[in-house]
Amino acid sequence: MCGIVGYVGEQKAAPILLDGLGKLEYRGYDSAGIAVYDGKKIGMKKAKGRLKVLSELTHDGETLPGTLGIGHTRWATHGEPSDVNAHPHLNAEESIVVVHNGIIENYMKLKKKLIGRGYQFLSDTDTEVIVHLLDYYYNGNPLQTITKIMHRMEGSYALGIIFKDHPEELYAVRKDSPLIVGHAKSGCIIASDVPAVLKYTRDVYFIENEEIVRMKKDSMEFFTVDEEVIEKESVHIAWDVDAAEKGGYEHFMLKEMYEQPKAITDTFSPRLKGNTIEIEELNMSDEEIQSIRKLMIVACGSAYHAGVTAKYVLEGMARVPVEVDLASEYRYRDALIDEGTLIIIISQSGETADSLAALRESKQKGARVLGIVNVVGSSIAREADNVMYTWAGPEIAVATTKAYSCQLIALYLLAMKFAKVRGTITESELVQYIEDLKRIPDQVELLLNNKNRIQKFANRYLAARDVFFIGRGIDYAISLEGSLKLKEISYIHSEAYAAGELKHGTISLIEEGTLVAAVLTQENLYKKMLSNVVEVRTRGAFVLAVTNEGNDQVEKAADYVIYIPKTNQYFTNSLAIIPLQLFGYYISVGKGCDVDKPRNLAKSVTVE
Ligand code: G6P
Repeated sequence: MCGIVGYVGEQKAAPILLDGLGKLEYRGYDSAGIAVYDGKKIGMKKAKGRLKVLSELTHDGETLPGTLGIGHTRWATHGEPSDVNAHPHLNAEESIVVVHNGIIENYMKLKKKLIGRGYQFLSDTDTEVIVHLLDYYYNGNPLQTITKIMHRMEGSYALGIIFKDHPEELYAVRKDSPLIVGHAKSGCIIASDVPAVLKYTRDVYFIENEEIVRMKKDSMEFFTVDEEVIEKESVHIAWDVDAAEKGGYEHFMLKEMYEQPKAITDTFSPRLKGNTIEIEELNMSDEEIQSIRKLMIVACGSAYHAGVTAKYVLEGMARVPVEVDLASEYRYRDALIDEGTLIIIISQSGETADSLAALRESKQKGARVLGIVNVVGSSIAREADNVMYTWAGPEIAVATTKAYSCQLIALYLLAMKFAKVRGTITESELVQYIEDLKRIPDQVELLLNNKNRIQKFANRYLAARDVFFIGRGIDYAISLEGSLKLKEISYIHSEAYAAGELKHGTISLIEEGTLVAAVLTQENLYKKMLSNVVEVRTRGAFVLAVTNEGNDQVEKAADYVIYIPKTNQYFTNSLAIIPLQLFGYYISVGKGCDVDKPRNLAKSVTVE
């Protein structure tokens, strides 16, 4: 996720671009850049770090004259945050310049071809292929050239483009990444999101997939990929800037929950090639995968919970032993590692002090370390031997939702890959798992759209003192995360228990009216779970059950039932966690807590 802006008009472009980028910094903030065309030359400035570094460098835009320009605030995907990797990107002749939000999935293939044709690459980004492709196909007609490269690029993109020999035109195009355009008094403006344009106009056009826009200072034309003209209606935006940053959602947490379908797709789609799974960044031969004797997953917080799920998935599917450790424990327990051990460190931020220390401890012992990380170029990403990125984009709410969901997806992909290579699943099983994986985004969407029902239920429990989450197997892992979501943002005491363990102590805490959330997605454990539900209910508990569609029997045992769509036994966490996230969220909202910034917590815990 990055933020792009562009302007063509009568005013100086650079200050407008910087102002717009300031409103988009929530979309990425590791580097920024602007390019402005003054009629003679395309001037460009880029800088690693927050936007203010770029503002200082350009004296708030004063050093870049011109009334046509594009800008970008970056959330690194390909290539770590740096001045060269920052956007915009220019062709060698400095006659075409591009900003990009999204991921070009076939960029390696395109890059190879372009290198073969003599193009030189300065950055590690996928974006640079776009500007060289434009250069390669450019025939003096920007529209034609853009449609040509659209046919060649796979993945997602929102682009702002300037062609030097069309000094009064700004081009924009999108596919699977957001883009809006607005008509201001003095010109036209493009942006990834509404907050960047609100100062200039409240009437915006939402660009649809594969639509192209040509803007001049006083006109705006829309085209299809076949260069046919389209008529579009503008939409009036009533939100204030604060609400607009959250995309109209009340909190970043809710917005990020709603971003899960896209984040999940972004995480799996570059790694699915037909009916095979390719995780190039693993950099492991089949022989190396076969020779793994043990996996050790090390992480903190929700990332640890993703690891607990992964233990069941990896052991079940790929039949490889898995240990899961809290990083703060692992780093001091002198774990036994040999050359058959692969260490997996999971971290959204890539900066968590305990996880980083665990990584260093493992490397010192000679182990190979794979990082599953969201922030490109973060410490864990840099120091791990290999990195598999989750493509969740920046997460602002302290309580993680979309990054956790993407960690699960990365781990499923790993399990499927290992299982296939180690021969523990058949070709047809793999195909079925891939089908199930592809269905998750729509299923998550469906569950999110059921939010009113969960909100109503949550409102009845605002005064709860204790809540217990119970489950077995993967359902226990789901319970751990459901319980953490609730307690961290609502300040209600909650605990997750392996349901079979209840009778060894915790059941004494159940009294009349205690809320118990029971997760029953594992068919082989369903009957056992039903007994546990009955056990707590007969002691007075009020039971909320989360289970698979079709498990109607639970209606008799529980007080309130939420059904999740059908998937295979390994992927249920991705679905069952959605109502639990919503439950924690609505309790927090109902209690008037600071949802996005809960007390005493930090998004990135860089101290021990
Ligand atoms: C903090 C965050 C959690 C996160 C944990 C681990 O406690 O609030 O949401 O799960 O750190 O962070 P990491 O960045 O390593 O995933």
